[in-house]
Amino acid sequence: MSKNDSISMSVIRRLPRYYRFLSELDEQAVDRISSTKLAQIMNVTASQVRQDLNCFGGFGQQGYGYSVSQLKKEIETILGLNNSYKAIIIGAGNLGKALAQHMSFERLGFELVGCFDISPEKVGSDIRDLKVRHDSELEAFCSENKLDAAFLCIPKSAVENVLDLLYRHGIRSYWNFSHFDICSKYSDAVVENVHLSDNLMTLCYRMNNSLG
Ligand code: NAI
Repeated sequence: MSKNDSISMSVIRRLPRYYRFLSELDEQAVDRISSTKLAQIMNVTASQVRQDLNCFGGFGQQGYGYSVSQLKKEIETILGLNNSYKAIIIGAGNLGKALAQHMSFERLGFELVGCFDISPEKVGSDIRDLKVRHDSELEAFCSENKLDAAFLCIPKSAVENVLDLLYRHGIRSYWNFSHFDICSKYSDAVVENVHLSDNLMTLCYRMNNSLG
Protein backbone atom coordinates (compact mmCIF):
# COMPACT_ATOMS: atom_id res chain seq x y z
CA MET A 1 0.00 0.00 0.00
CA SER A 2 1.49 3.37 -0.99
CA LYS A 3 1.34 6.42 1.28
CA ASN A 4 -1.29 8.05 -0.95
CA ASP A 5 -3.66 5.05 -1.05
CA SER A 6 -6.05 6.57 1.46
CA ILE A 7 -6.65 9.64 -0.71
CA SER A 8 -9.87 9.54 -2.65
CA MET A 9 -9.81 9.42 -6.43
CA SER A 10 -11.96 12.55 -6.60
CA VAL A 11 -9.15 14.49 -4.88
CA ILE A 12 -6.53 12.90 -7.13
CA ARG A 13 -8.59 13.82 -10.18
CA ARG A 14 -8.61 17.48 -9.12
CA LEU A 15 -4.82 17.61 -8.70
CA PRO A 16 -3.98 17.98 -12.41
CA ARG A 17 -6.27 21.02 -12.51
CA TYR A 18 -4.55 22.54 -9.47
CA TYR A 19 -1.27 21.82 -11.16
CA ARG A 20 -2.34 23.44 -14.45
CA PHE A 21 -3.59 26.62 -12.79
CA LEU A 22 -0.58 26.84 -10.49
CA SER A 23 1.74 26.41 -13.49
CA GLU A 24 0.01 29.33 -15.21
CA LEU A 25 0.28 31.47 -12.07
CA ASP A 26 3.92 30.50 -11.68
CA GLU A 27 4.61 31.55 -15.28
CA GLN A 28 2.98 34.90 -14.50
CA ALA A 29 5.39 35.18 -11.54
CA VAL A 30 2.57 35.13 -8.98
CA ASP A 31 4.21 34.46 -5.63
CA ARG A 32 1.36 33.52 -3.28
CA ILE A 33 -2.29 32.62 -3.57
CA SER A 34 -5.06 32.37 -0.97
CA SER A 35 -7.33 29.35 -0.79
CA THR A 36 -10.24 31.68 -1.65
CA LYS A 37 -8.59 32.85 -4.87
CA LEU A 38 -7.47 29.33 -5.77
CA ALA A 39 -11.02 28.12 -5.12
CA GLN A 40 -12.38 30.80 -7.48
CA ILE A 41 -10.04 29.70 -10.26
CA MET A 42 -10.84 26.03 -9.62
CA ASN A 43 -14.55 26.67 -9.36
CA VAL A 44 -14.77 24.88 -5.99
CA THR A 45 -15.17 26.21 -2.45
CA ALA A 46 -12.25 27.48 -0.37
CA SER A 47 -12.92 24.79 2.21
CA GLN A 48 -12.71 22.18 -0.57
CA VAL A 49 -9.28 23.53 -1.52
CA ARG A 50 -8.10 23.41 2.09
CA GLN A 51 -9.51 19.89 2.52
CA ASP A 52 -7.89 18.68 -0.70
CA LEU A 53 -4.49 20.05 0.14
CA ASN A 54 -4.70 18.91 3.77
CA CYS A 55 -4.81 15.33 2.47
CA PHE A 56 -1.18 15.82 1.52
CA GLY A 57 -0.06 17.72 4.58
CA GLY A 58 -1.39 21.25 4.11
CA PHE A 59 1.37 23.39 2.59
CA GLY A 60 -0.48 26.60 3.41
CA GLN A 61 0.15 29.10 6.18
CA GLN A 62 -2.83 30.59 7.99
CA GLY A 63 -3.28 34.13 6.72
CA TYR A 64 -0.51 33.91 4.12
CA GLY A 65 -2.07 31.53 1.64
CA TYR A 66 0.03 29.16 -0.43
CA SER A 67 3.36 29.68 -2.08
CA VAL A 68 2.52 29.09 -5.76
CA SER A 69 5.87 27.58 -6.72
CA GLN A 70 6.08 25.40 -3.63
CA LEU A 71 2.54 24.11 -3.98
CA LYS A 72 3.11 23.43 -7.67
CA LYS A 73 6.25 21.47 -6.78
CA GLU A 74 4.48 19.49 -4.08
CA ILE A 75 1.66 18.53 -6.45
CA GLU A 76 4.24 17.64 -9.09
CA THR A 77 5.81 15.24 -6.58
CA ILE A 78 2.47 13.79 -5.46
CA LEU A 79 1.44 13.14 -9.05
CA GLY A 80 4.88 11.70 -9.78
CA LEU A 81 5.50 14.00 -12.74
CA ASN A 82 9.22 13.84 -12.09
CA ASN A 83 9.21 10.18 -13.13
CA SER A 84 10.35 9.05 -16.51
CA TYR A 85 8.06 6.13 -17.16
CA LYS A 86 8.81 4.42 -20.44
CA ALA A 87 5.77 4.32 -22.69
CA ILE A 88 4.83 3.22 -26.18
CA ILE A 89 2.02 4.20 -28.50
CA ILE A 90 0.12 1.43 -30.27
CA GLY A 91 -1.55 2.78 -33.40
CA ALA A 92 0.07 5.57 -35.39
CA GLY A 93 -3.14 6.83 -36.98
CA ASN A 94 -4.73 10.24 -36.49
CA LEU A 95 -4.98 9.90 -32.74
CA GLY A 96 -1.63 8.24 -32.04
CA LYS A 97 0.13 10.76 -34.24
CA ALA A 98 -1.62 13.70 -32.61
CA LEU A 99 -0.64 12.45 -29.14
CA ALA A 100 2.95 11.84 -30.17
CA GLN A 101 3.26 15.24 -31.75
CA HIS A 102 1.41 17.40 -29.27
CA MET A 103 1.78 15.92 -25.80
CA SER A 104 4.67 17.06 -23.62
CA PHE A 105 5.23 13.59 -22.23
CA GLU A 106 8.49 14.51 -20.50
CA ARG A 107 6.74 17.17 -18.43
CA LEU A 108 4.08 14.66 -17.45
CA GLY A 109 6.30 11.88 -16.12
CA PHE A 110 6.65 9.82 -19.29
CA GLU A 111 9.22 9.13 -21.94
CA LEU A 112 7.86 8.01 -25.30
CA VAL A 113 10.21 5.26 -26.48
CA GLY A 114 8.30 3.52 -29.26
CA CYS A 115 5.42 3.69 -31.65
CA PHE A 116 3.82 0.68 -33.37
CA ASP A 117 1.36 0.09 -36.19
CA ILE A 118 0.52 -2.62 -38.71
CA SER A 119 -0.23 -0.48 -41.75
CA PRO A 120 2.51 -0.51 -44.42
CA GLU A 121 1.83 3.21 -44.95
CA LYS A 122 2.58 4.02 -41.33
CA VAL A 123 5.42 1.60 -40.57
CA GLY A 124 8.79 3.25 -41.25
CA SER A 125 7.39 6.78 -41.09
CA ASP A 126 8.70 9.24 -38.52
CA ILE A 127 6.62 10.47 -35.63
CA ARG A 128 8.31 12.89 -33.30
CA ASP A 129 11.83 11.47 -33.09
CA LEU A 130 10.69 7.88 -33.51
CA LYS A 131 10.38 5.56 -36.46
CA VAL A 132 7.05 3.73 -36.46
CA ARG A 133 7.71 0.01 -36.06
CA HIS A 134 5.60 -2.95 -37.14
CA ASP A 135 3.74 -4.91 -34.44
CA SER A 136 5.86 -7.92 -35.38
CA GLU A 137 8.72 -6.18 -33.53
CA LEU A 138 6.63 -5.55 -30.44
CA GLU A 139 7.47 -8.76 -28.59
CA ALA A 140 11.23 -8.26 -28.98
CA PHE A 141 10.93 -4.56 -28.13
CA CYS A 142 9.07 -5.39 -24.92
CA SER A 143 11.72 -7.95 -23.96
CA GLU A 144 14.58 -5.56 -24.59
CA ASN A 145 13.06 -2.48 -22.96
CA LYS A 146 11.54 -2.34 -19.53
CA LEU A 147 8.29 -0.63 -20.47
CA ASP A 148 5.92 0.90 -17.95
CA ALA A 149 2.88 1.95 -19.96
CA ALA A 150 1.15 1.70 -23.30
CA PHE A 151 -1.09 4.26 -24.96
CA LEU A 152 -3.68 2.41 -27.03
CA CYS A 153 -4.86 4.25 -30.13
CA ILE A 154 -6.17 1.32 -32.13
CA PRO A 155 -9.69 0.09 -32.91
CA LYS A 156 -11.43 -1.91 -30.20
CA SER A 157 -11.35 -5.06 -32.32
CA ALA A 158 -7.54 -4.93 -32.49
CA VAL A 159 -6.89 -4.45 -28.78
CA GLU A 160 -7.20 -7.89 -27.23
CA ASN A 161 -4.25 -9.55 -29.01
CA VAL A 162 -1.94 -6.60 -28.45
CA LEU A 163 -3.07 -6.26 -24.85
CA ASP A 164 -2.35 -9.93 -24.12
CA LEU A 165 1.17 -9.49 -25.44
CA LEU A 166 1.79 -6.30 -23.48
CA TYR A 167 0.36 -7.80 -20.30
CA ARG A 168 2.51 -10.90 -20.72
CA HIS A 169 5.50 -8.60 -20.79
CA GLY A 170 4.54 -6.99 -17.51
CA ILE A 171 2.91 -3.80 -18.77
CA ARG A 172 0.13 -2.99 -16.33
CA SER A 173 -0.62 0.67 -17.10
CA TYR A 174 -2.70 1.80 -20.03
CA TRP A 175 -3.91 5.10 -21.42
CA ASN A 176 -6.80 3.66 -23.34
CA PHE A 177 -8.40 5.52 -26.24
CA SER A 178 -9.88 2.37 -27.71
CA HIS A 179 -13.29 1.39 -26.40
CA PHE A 180 -12.07 -2.01 -25.19
CA ASP A 181 -12.79 -2.72 -21.51
CA ILE A 182 -9.29 -3.59 -20.30
CA CYS A 183 -10.16 -3.99 -16.61
CA SER A 184 -12.78 -6.65 -17.26
CA LYS A 185 -9.99 -8.80 -18.70
CA TYR A 186 -7.10 -7.77 -16.44
CA SER A 187 -8.45 -6.54 -13.14
CA ASP A 188 -5.02 -5.51 -11.81
CA ALA A 189 -4.36 -3.21 -14.76
CA VAL A 190 -4.14 0.52 -14.07
CA VAL A 191 -6.25 2.09 -16.77
CA GLU A 192 -7.23 5.61 -17.70
CA ASN A 193 -9.95 5.43 -20.32
CA VAL A 194 -10.53 8.43 -22.56
CA HIS A 195 -13.86 8.78 -24.28
CA LEU A 196 -14.10 12.21 -25.89
CA SER A 197 -17.67 11.47 -26.88
CA ASP A 198 -18.64 11.30 -23.19
CA ASN A 199 -17.65 14.96 -22.81
CA LEU A 200 -19.57 15.90 -25.89
CA MET A 201 -22.68 14.07 -24.72
CA THR A 202 -22.40 15.87 -21.39
CA LEU A 203 -22.13 19.18 -23.26
CA CYS A 204 -25.20 18.21 -25.25
CA TYR A 205 -27.12 17.44 -22.05
CA ARG A 206 -26.10 20.74 -20.51
CA MET A 207 -27.11 22.64 -23.64
CA ASN A 208 -30.48 20.90 -23.62
CA ASN A 209 -30.97 21.88 -20.02
CA SER A 210 -29.74 25.45 -20.09
CA LEU A 211 -31.01 26.75 -23.43
CA GLY A 212 -34.56 27.52 -24.43
P1 NAI B 1 -6.96 5.74 -37.43
O1 NAI B 1 -7.67 4.77 -38.32
O2 NAI B 1 -6.43 7.00 -38.01
O3 NAI B 1 -5.72 4.99 -36.73
C1 NAI B 1 -5.79 3.70 -36.22
C2 NAI B 1 -4.42 3.09 -36.47
O4 NAI B 1 -4.36 1.86 -35.77
C3 NAI B 1 -4.16 2.78 -37.95
O5 NAI B 1 -2.94 3.39 -38.35
C4 NAI B 1 -4.10 1.27 -38.00
O6 NAI B 1 -3.20 0.81 -38.97
C5 NAI B 1 -3.61 0.98 -36.60
N1 NAI B 1 -3.83 -0.39 -36.15
C6 NAI B 1 -4.91 -1.16 -36.34
N2 NAI B 1 -4.72 -2.36 -35.75
C7 NAI B 1 -3.50 -2.30 -35.14
C8 NAI B 1 -2.74 -3.20 -34.38
N3 NAI B 1 -3.19 -4.42 -34.08
N4 NAI B 1 -1.53 -2.79 -33.93
C9 NAI B 1 -1.06 -1.56 -34.21
N5 NAI B 1 -1.73 -0.67 -34.95
C10 NAI B 1 -2.94 -1.03 -35.41
O7 NAI B 1 -7.93 5.99 -36.23
P2 NAI B 1 -7.81 7.14 -35.14
O8 NAI B 1 -8.64 8.28 -35.54
O9 NAI B 1 -6.38 7.38 -34.81
O10 NAI B 1 -8.51 6.44 -33.90
C11 NAI B 1 -7.93 5.29 -33.31
C12 NAI B 1 -8.96 4.58 -32.46
O11 NAI B 1 -9.35 5.39 -31.39
C13 NAI B 1 -10.23 4.27 -33.26
O12 NAI B 1 -10.57 2.94 -33.04
C14 NAI B 1 -11.30 5.15 -32.71
O13 NAI B 1 -12.52 4.49 -32.53
C15 NAI B 1 -10.75 5.52 -31.34
N6 NAI B 1 -11.07 6.89 -30.99
C16 NAI B 1 -11.29 7.11 -29.67
C17 NAI B 1 -11.54 8.36 -29.22
C18 NAI B 1 -11.75 8.54 -27.78
O14 NAI B 1 -12.17 9.61 -27.34
N7 NAI B 1 -11.48 7.55 -27.00
C19 NAI B 1 -11.59 9.52 -30.12
C20 NAI B 1 -11.27 9.19 -31.47
C21 NAI B 1 -11.03 7.90 -31.88
